Amino acid sequence: MNLVVRNIGVLATPKGNKAKGGLQQGEISLVKNAFVAIKDGKVVYIGDETKKSNKDYLRENFPYKEIDAEGKLVTPGFVDPHTHLIFAGWRQKELTLKLKGYKYLDILKMGGGILYTVEKTRNATLQELVENAKKSLKIMLSYGTTTCEAKSGYGLNVEDELKILQAIKILNQIQPVEIVPTFMGAHAVPKEYKDKKEYIKLIKEMMPRIKEEGLAEFCDVFCEEGVFDLKESEEILREAKKCGLTPKIHADEITPMGGAKLAAKVGAISAEHLIHADEEGIEEMAKNNVIAVLLPGTSFYLGEDFAKAEIFKEKNVPIALATDFNPGSSPNESLQIVVNLACLKYKLTPEEVLTAVTLNAAAAINRASTIGTIEEGKNADIIIWEADDLDFICYHYGTNLVNKVVKKGALVWEVNV
Ligand code: NIG
Ligand code: FE
Repeated sequence: MNLVVRNIGVLATPKGNKAKGGLQQGEISLVKNAFVAIKDGKVVYIGDETKKSNKDYLRENFPYKEIDAEGKLVTPGFVDPHTHLIFAGWRQKELTLKLKGYKYLDILKMGGGILYTVEKTRNATLQELVENAKKSLKIMLSYGTTTCEAKSGYGLNVEDELKILQAIKILNQIQPVEIVPTFMGAHAVPKEYKDKKEYIKLIKEMMPRIKEEGLAEFCDVFCEEGVFDLKESEEILREAKKCGLTPKIHADEITPMGGAKLAAKVGAISAEHLIHADEEGIEEMAKNNVIAVLLPGTSFYLGEDFAKAEIFKEKNVPIALATDFNPGSSPNESLQIVVNLACLKYKLTPEEVLTAVTLNAAAAINRASTIGTIEEGKNADIIIWEADDLDFICYHYGTNLVNKVVKKGALVWEVNV
């Protein structure tokens, strides 16, 4: 099936197959009066509609279905490289505790937090988990997310971790947002384990099976005070690597732990959160090509500091942005608000932010050769915005500005008019 997205006011996209850091992160391509021709789900041609040779190309490739972008902004589909999508057990009750002054880790210590969601997730059926996540994916898609990562980590035993990863597999077959799976058995220590060592042993035992059954590509660890310390995190991630799961790490989110440095040491593809990452850790990340996945929605919701984006920029570490969608620290599916926060709180430019939610985000989940930019040969994942330019979507916050979403060359979402 051929498709042409035409009458594009401005096509804004980063270019290439690799994450970009430093000044390069802000270098994007802007093509006015563009059209994008799509064949078999891939971009085959990008042209200037006002040129006669391009009109000829269009005519020769007839017949095709046409989408009129009505002179609006077009960007690559957004990629959300950090979510905890699969769960049962929203935690709205914690809001009042938060307002009373309880901190995130206090609530976890009291047996709430992640452990509350674990209990509900264990009690949910596979079908219920699929249905819950399907609703969130629909919201994500409507806000422009065409690919996301999803972590397990609310099962914390063999049966329920597998149930979560199985839910991801099913969701990949029944709805349009592509989900890239991460095993995060090391999200918390379940209540029934008095000896953390025993639980770490179980996590390590789960890995080969998960890899063999193709249920995850990455392995993540919550390296945090009272959860998994630096040594335990290293042990888990080294084993993951041996099993063929690429390391990721929740690093320096609430407490400075040296997580950024550990990410570099174990050869992680990305380190995430990084609110309290120190300069030495950031330098190590730069040397070892670790991508910084920053999550401003979590800082906002937890009332924590914002990661120091300017240091990552200065040190040439590519910055990706994600929602961290989860029921505790970031109950939000929309990357659009993340875009707004990244501009206002990290002081990233609209161009840098676009690269962060597309190309760099794709690179953080090892997908930069197929998605993250609108270029010939890449998947046709495209957002048509209800906006004239990039500045508008960075500035107009709190409302959905997506007009249409195309995933692998098919129109998958359209605003109701
Ligand atoms: O990224 N930090 C650990 N995991 C999530 C929170 C998960 C939860 O609270 O349910 C995070 O903040
Ligand atoms: Fe997270």
